Amino acid sequence: MLTVIVFVSIVVSIQGCQDSGCPNGQSCNPYTNQCVVDPPPPARPAAWIGDEPDFCNRTPDDCKRFRLEYDISHPKGDGEFCENGTKIRCMLPDFKPQLINTPENEFRTISYNIFERSFQITWDGQRERSCRIPLWALTETPDLDVISFQEVFMGGCFAESLNIRQILTYYGFPYFTDLLDIDDRPSNGGIFIASKWPIVEQDMHIYNASDENTWDWFAAKGVSYAKIKKGNTFYHVTGTHMQAGGPDHYRLSQCEETRDFLKTKNIDKSEAIIYTGDFNIDYWSSSQIMKTCIETIDADVPPLSGSLNLTGDPRTNDVQNLTNPNSGGGWVDYVLPSSVNRKPTNASQIILRGMDVEKFEVCWCAECIPLDPDYIFPNDEDCERVERVRHLSDHHPILGTFKYD
Ligand SMILES: *[C@@H]1O[C@H](CO)[C@@H](O)[C@H](O)[C@H]1NC(C)=O
Ligand SMILES: *[C@@H]1O[C@H](CO)[C@@H](O)[C@H](O)[C@H]1NC(C)=O
Ligand SMILES: *[C@@H]1O[C@H](CO)[C@@H](O)[C@H](O)[C@H]1NC(C)=O
Ligand SMILES: *[C@@H]1O[C@H](CO)[C@@H](O)[C@H](O)[C@H]1NC(C)=O
Ligand SMILES: *[C@@H]1O[C@H](CO)[C@@H](O)[C@H](O)[C@H]1NC(C)=O
Repeated sequence: MLTVIVFVSIVVSIQGCQDSGCPNGQSCNPYTNQCVVDPPPPARPAAWIGDEPDFCNRTPDDCKRFRLEYDISHPKGDGEFCENGTKIRCMLPDFKPQLINTPENEFRTISYNIFERSFQITWDGQRERSCRIPLWALTETPDLDVISFQEVFMGGCFAESLNIRQILTYYGFPYFTDLLDIDDRPSNGGIFIASKWPIVEQDMHIYNASDENTWDWFAAKGVSYAKIKKGNTFYHVTGTHMQAGGPDHYRLSQCEETRDFLKTKNIDKSEAIIYTGDFNIDYWSSSQIMKTCIETIDADVPPLSGSLNLTGDPRTNDVQNLTNPNSGGGWVDYVLPSSVNRKPTNASQIILRGMDVEKFEVCWCAECIPLDPDYIFPNDEDCERVERVRHLSDHHPILGTFKYD
């Protein structure tokens, strides 16, 4: 019996591509032993779905889950052949927001904590939400100059193949600071700055002050710095994510570290500085702490316009409503001009609603430590709870608009 099986397999391999190989541009499917033409490159940035953790059982409609467009199906895609079924390639839709360039004495920046923590910690729609963020931001505010991101721990959307930086680049935001990271912390800091204009200098500082009794201690949180050249004008932008929870003195120390770090940049007083990020200090309930921080870094708090006055709020944000239904909410995200360097003659902040036009499904398992630390489709067998949300993060983004003489 054994001899027969060996004989049969030899016959097959002599006739099939596993033995003879395939011409250039084709690959051998080990399950059929036949050559298959490799997929052509995509017309626009794209990602393959359907092999992990699923068994090549995805359908073209699944692309819509990420607001992507179905491109092609293929048994191999960008990796190993499927034993059965095909993988699906999803690509960015054939639509780019028409970006608007404002005069170089004007500057607009969004600060956005996008709540994209690792799949090892939680499943709360990280991929569905973050795939939508670049298009939302640039459609809502086509005259943006900079986006300051926090909590991009995995890279956004499909971290390996179609991450948030690749999407932003495609839409005309091609400059970035490096992700905050340092060897002695297990997690990166999730912080970076994206720019439409060249970043001529960048740097980072990982906060020394960090409460070792909180999750923060494991992440390389700190402050990202970018010197941005818009036309012939320089803007110095920082992006931070300060200590969450724990006593206020950690956040106040982090404000001091930010000041000291920026001092090393020797920024000329004639050039503008803009401090952005999630300070984790609520303007309303911790006004004294916030006042001390802004005095430390020498910043102004521009008036808030618009109808929202909280950046984290379960009443106006359905993701926050799911994660923190009983929270009173808070205003913790800011876009603050320097009060001592070049000052804007007109400055405002407005809290925006980062949301899709309709609800989308996500697999929900908030901070449950999933056994399989990978993305999971909401219609997968292993997904025990499905939620439908519209918001793209548990924070609202905040837009700062500045005009200089
Ligand atoms: C492949 O799919 C077909 C049709 O669904 C099924 O009959 C067959 O058993 C599958 N083969 C494997 C190896 O899973
Ligand atoms: C860093 O923090 C530790 C503990 O809070 C403190 O002892 C140390 O002096 C700090 N180092 C610097 C360079 O600030
Ligand atoms: C924030 O807005 C809400 C709803 O409009 C309003 O009731 C509340 O008084 C505002 N809070 C502050 C501190 O302005
Ligand atoms: C959260 O959402 C539910 C269902 O939509 C709603 O009834 C509830 O009032 C919301 N919670 C808050 C704090 O607004
Ligand atoms: C200041 O900015 C606000 C908000 O962007 C705008 O409505 C207003 O017209 C501006 N004022 C001046 C004097 O430019």
